Amino acid sequence: MIKKTIEITNLKVAFSTRQGQVKAVNNISMTLHKGQVIAMIGETGSGKSVFGLSLLQLLPENAKLSGEAEYEGKNLLRLPTSDIRNIRGKKIALIPQNPDTSLNPIMKVKKQLRDVIDQKDKKTYIHKIINELKKYHLYDPERVSDAYPFQLSGGMKQRVLSASATMGKPDLIIADEPTKGLDVIIRNEVYQIFKKMIQDTDIGLLLITHDLIFANTISDKVAVLYAGEVIEYGDTKDLFNEPYHPYTKGFIEAQPYKNLKPIPGLPPSLIHLPEGCSFHPRCSKKMPVCSQLKPDLYSVGNRNVRCFLYA
Ligand SMILES: Nc1ncnc2c1ncn2[C@@H]1O[C@H](COP(=O)(O)OP(=O)(O)OP(=O)(O)O)[C@@H](O)[C@H]1O
Ligand SMILES: [Mg+2]
Repeated sequence: MIKKTIEITNLKVAFSTRQGQVKAVNNISMTLHKGQVIAMIGETGSGKSVFGLSLLQLLPENAKLSGEAEYEGKNLLRLPTSDIRNIRGKKIALIPQNPDTSLNPIMKVKKQLRDVIDQKDKKTYIHKIINELKKYHLYDPERVSDAYPFQLSGGMKQRVLSASATMGKPDLIIADEPTKGLDVIIRNEVYQIFKKMIQDTDIGLLLITHDLIFANTISDKVAVLYAGEVIEYGDTKDLFNEPYHPYTKGFIEAQPYKNLKPIPGLPPSLIHLPEGCSFHPRCSKKMPVCSQLKPDLYSVGNRNVRCFLYA
C-alpha cells in the first residue's frame, strides 16, 4: 500500500499587491504519497512554483495562505518557524527553480551541503558530498565541492541543488524545473538519476516541469494547473495519450515535440479572474454555462476533470 505523506486540502495563496490581490493558487487539494511521482504541469504563471514553495513556508511576506497541508499530523502551513526549519531539506526537500537565488553566494558548496546532512565529522561529510556529486556526473566533484557558486555554470549549480535535495534522504522532494537550462546530454543524465532514485528508494516526488517528456517518463500521475487550479488529474500514460480537458489538449499540442500550435489568447489576470470556468475565454468548446458557473473537478473513471463537458 502507498503510504500517505502530505494531504493538501483547499490550499489557497493570494499576494497583496498595489494593483490588488493576485490569486496565484486557488483551492488545490491533492495528496502526495511516498513512493509516488506526481508531475505538475501548466503554462508559465499557473501557480506551480508558488504551490511548491507554500508547502515549506517559503513564500514572501505579501503572501496570504489558507487551507491545510497535513504532514505527520500537523499542518505544514501553520508550523512555527523552528519546526518547519527541521523539516526543510531533511524530511521535505526543495530543488528550487532558480539556482542563482537558492545557493548562498558566499559559502562554498561543501559547506552548504554539509548543513543538509547534519554531519560534523569532516572526513565523513566530505566523502558523502563527493559521492553524491559524482552521481550527478559532476566530473570533478572535489573541485565542485570546494567552489563558490559563482565559479560554477548554471547547469552545475542546478545539479548541486539536486544533490543537496537527495543527500538528506527526505520523504519527499519538490523539484521545481530540475532540468531547466541543461543541455540534452546532461538532461538525460538527470532523468536517469531521478529514475534510479525512485527505483532505489520509496521517496515521493512532486516534479514541477515544462519538460513533458521528463514528466511522461518518470511520473505516475499528472496534475495540470491553469490559473492556480488543478483542471485535470490522472494517470500519466492515460492522460498524455488522451487528454480530456480542452486546455490540457491545447497545452500538449503546443509542445515542441508535438505541433507547436499555441492555444489562442492569454491566461487570465489573476487579479480579475473570469466568472465561471477560468479557461472559458480561450476555450473552443465553451458552452453558455461555462461563463456563469465554476465547474467542479468531476471524476471520469480514474481521471478528474474540471470541465462541464464531463459533468
Ligand atoms: N511575490 C509575489 N507577488 C505578487 N505576485 C506573485 C508573487 N510571486 C508570484 N506571483 C504571481 O503568482 C503567479 C504564479 O507564479 P508561479 O511562479 O507559481 O508560476 P509558475 O507556474 O511557476 O510559472 P513558471 O512556469 O514560469 O515557473 C504569477 O502570476 C506570479 O506573477
Ligand atoms: Mg515556476
